[in-house]
Amino acid sequence: MINRRSFLKTIPVTALLIPQPLHKFYAKHLSTTEDDAFWENIAQAYNVDRSIINLNNGGVSPQPVAVQNRFVELNTEANKGPSYYMWRIMDKGREPLRARLANLAGCATDEIAIQRNTTEALGNVVMGINLQPGDEVVLSNMDYPNMLQAWKQRAQREGIKLVFADLKLPSTDTDYLTNAYTRLFTSKTKVVHLTHMINWCGQLMPVAQIAAQANKFGIEVILDAAHTFAHIPFSLSETGCHYAGTSLHKWLGAPFGTGFLYVAKDKIKNLWPLLPSNEPQSNDIRKFEVLGTRSFAAEQGINAAIDFNESIGMVRKSERLYFLKNYWCSKVIGLPRIKINTPLHSKFSGAIAHVEIEGYTAATLEAALFQQFKIHTSPIGWAYLDGVRITPNVYTRLSELDVLVEAIKTLAKK
Ligand SMILES: Cc1ncc(COP(=O)(O)O)c(C=O)c1O
Repeated sequence: MINRRSFLKTIPVTALLIPQPLHKFYAKHLSTTEDDAFWENIAQAYNVDRSIINLNNGGVSPQPVAVQNRFVELNTEANKGPSYYMWRIMDKGREPLRARLANLAGCATDEIAIQRNTTEALGNVVMGINLQPGDEVVLSNMDYPNMLQAWKQRAQREGIKLVFADLKLPSTDTDYLTNAYTRLFTSKTKVVHLTHMINWCGQLMPVAQIAAQANKFGIEVILDAAHTFAHIPFSLSETGCHYAGTSLHKWLGAPFGTGFLYVAKDKIKNLWPLLPSNEPQSNDIRKFEVLGTRSFAAEQGINAAIDFNESIGMVRKSERLYFLKNYWCSKVIGLPRIKINTPLHSKFSGAIAHVEIEGYTAATLEAALFQQFKIHTSPIGWAYLDGVRITPNVYTRLSELDVLVEAIKTLAKK
């Protein structure tokens, strides 16, 4: 008989790359403790400082040692003669890398431009999309500040109108989350900007449902996938979004300063690159890669991160991440003075959760966790949230989450 573990091990990597409907993989696997030995091996593939418990992997993730070593090798190679090794030798790696990323993202190879982060990737979209004064863009109070700032600059400069969806989170109501956006669509709406997983609290949004409605009205859809690529299994082309950006130094564990931009084939021509190429209206995705001199070691190091992720398996990884969040949340949810601001349901969350303790602000809770328990978290005071964001990663040990649980319980008693 094939059990789940051996089944997952036998799935060829290529099978995991076939575009799948969103959330298809979220069976009710709440426990993967049977895989303890496997995950201990993964933990040992990192050289993180275990004298602190790093639970802010949402900001940026450490790279497995294999990725760091590859980066050093590539950097050493580049330094043998930078203009020769970078521009004549390592440059040849860009096309195969594009194909690998597209395969993982579930889109065509010529829809991926390699970038340095989400800010840069989505900067191309927000600043490059054609809009007239009076055109409306629907976005939300929960989007990432860099994106909000970009839109505000366009509004200030060009007179486009920003219309904000007022999201009350957490929510497991797909209709509510969808309507929060679609109810704002008017004949003037040209763009809807969506954050796939809200970075403040880990809420996973029903972006395919919102995009389906937008598509009915010819509204263009931008997806901020900073927190979902290599975290949640999904296929970009199946989201119905036209543009997306992500950072590979977050969930893929690639070298710092790596990301990509996705533009659906039929949208490339009309999107103006942020850093112009000599053919800014070309149909070639490479027009977004005129970045000037950058680290080819970081870019080519992405391959080692893909290898590492494939050695785990994307489905197994996402199940583990989801399990880690629910492992600690389920031990403190419902206790007096403790509030979890993230759904536990797999359709609406992954590894990230936000917790508040009555009597603490985001800053005092973050400080107490670090000073008393050496737990590093991200203080999040945003909109109505006032607590800390907890983000484990594949190298996080259950014993470390046990320390977190005890810390939360202790602080809630004081
Ligand atoms: C939702 C979201 N978008 C964009 C970004 C920006 O990512 P980067 O700093 O890699 O450009 C972040 C970073 O945390 C994020 O959480």
